Amino acid sequence: MINKEIFEFPIIYTNPIPKIALGWGSYQTVGDECKAAGMKKALIVTSGLKGTGIVDELKGVINYAGVSTDIYDKITTNPKDWQIMEAYKAFKDGQCDGVVAVGGGSSMDTAKGVRVVAANGGKDITNFTVFIDPPWMETLKKMKPCTIPQVSVATTSGTGAEVSSFAALSNTKTKMKILVSAPNIHSTVAVIDPLLARLQSREMAAWSGFDAMAHGIEAFVTKVTGPYSHGMLLHCVELVYKNLREFTYNRMNNTACERMCWASTMGGIAIGFGAGAGIVHGLGHQISALTDCHHGRINAIMMLAGERYNQPAIIEKLAALTRAMGVDTYGMTEWEAADRWFDEIEQLLKDLDIIPGQLKKQFGVKETDLEKIVKVYANDFCSQGNPREFNYDEVLGLLKGAL
Ligand SMILES: [Fe+2]
Repeated sequence: MINKEIFEFPIIYTNPIPKIALGWGSYQTVGDECKAAGMKKALIVTSGLKGTGIVDELKGVINYAGVSTDIYDKITTNPKDWQIMEAYKAFKDGQCDGVVAVGGGSSMDTAKGVRVVAANGGKDITNFTVFIDPPWMETLKKMKPCTIPQVSVATTSGTGAEVSSFAALSNTKTKMKILVSAPNIHSTVAVIDPLLARLQSREMAAWSGFDAMAHGIEAFVTKVTGPYSHGMLLHCVELVYKNLREFTYNRMNNTACERMCWASTMGGIAIGFGAGAGIVHGLGHQISALTDCHHGRINAIMMLAGERYNQPAIIEKLAALTRAMGVDTYGMTEWEAADRWFDEIEQLLKDLDIIPGQLKKQFGVKETDLEKIVKVYANDFCSQGNPREFNYDEVLGLLKGAL
């Protein structure tokens, strides 16, 4: 009899992805997309994006297509469980039949949360958390699928949430960042418009852009990754490496802006093509839950420590990433090419004004916080595919080194 246990992840699953409209001026299609999805009244879910005029512009585009709107604009970074429930109440009270997320990952993931709650009888969003234990694919079977349409309009360039099948939210009671999912949770339509992305602040461009880099790197080095995603991930890393500096300091460089939009979406799609994320996202989630640190920024801060930890298990992959960034590795051993990856990322972080590690100085993380971070990470399914297997003491040591 064949021993079926010899492969740790024998089957690569892909998540469904939305219809995608990426390009200059694509935001003008949002009203028609809402109408085509059957919406009569949409709840716009957003942080407000004050000073950009984006929300008013989008509202006008949607109304012009004959779809009326209400707005929930209280979303913050690391969206909180109560914000999702407040947005759900606004959705219900306003008798809406669709959601339009306008913003970065926080707005898109909140909108997904509203649809999950609506599909499952109004239960609190924290009931839909997916963990390694109990097995998340079994948990998903107990949830009713989302049926309400969602149009996601990206205003950052890094999250990939517009095309993903998960929502990352903060459980404020347990102080944990949780991943939520349900069948059909992905957006119906994803709209990525460089005209909107170039209105980001310098900080947001750098932090959000590094999230795309983190997706490219982490999804490429995971144990669950596969050939579907590899091409997109290597190209995602190349695009971010070659364009993020320029875009951060010159958001009106149209070429750099558009390439960051492509990189962001590719990273998100590739994660859903079976690849997942790893220790950088996993630890970053819990540090964000404690400190409310921006998701992309904490991934950038933890990147060197996370991959140094993984390095012995991913030499060939790190060398491939170095080559993807355009570094000439001719004459180098694979070990040397892998080491060069750390040099390149360190310089990129410096250029983006991001300080790696120093969690205590930058965010007030205490040594007594670290054990909880490791314990929660152990059950976050980002740890499942991480290339170096989980070991409590070793991960605690990694965090102490980053403190
Ligand atoms: Fe991310």
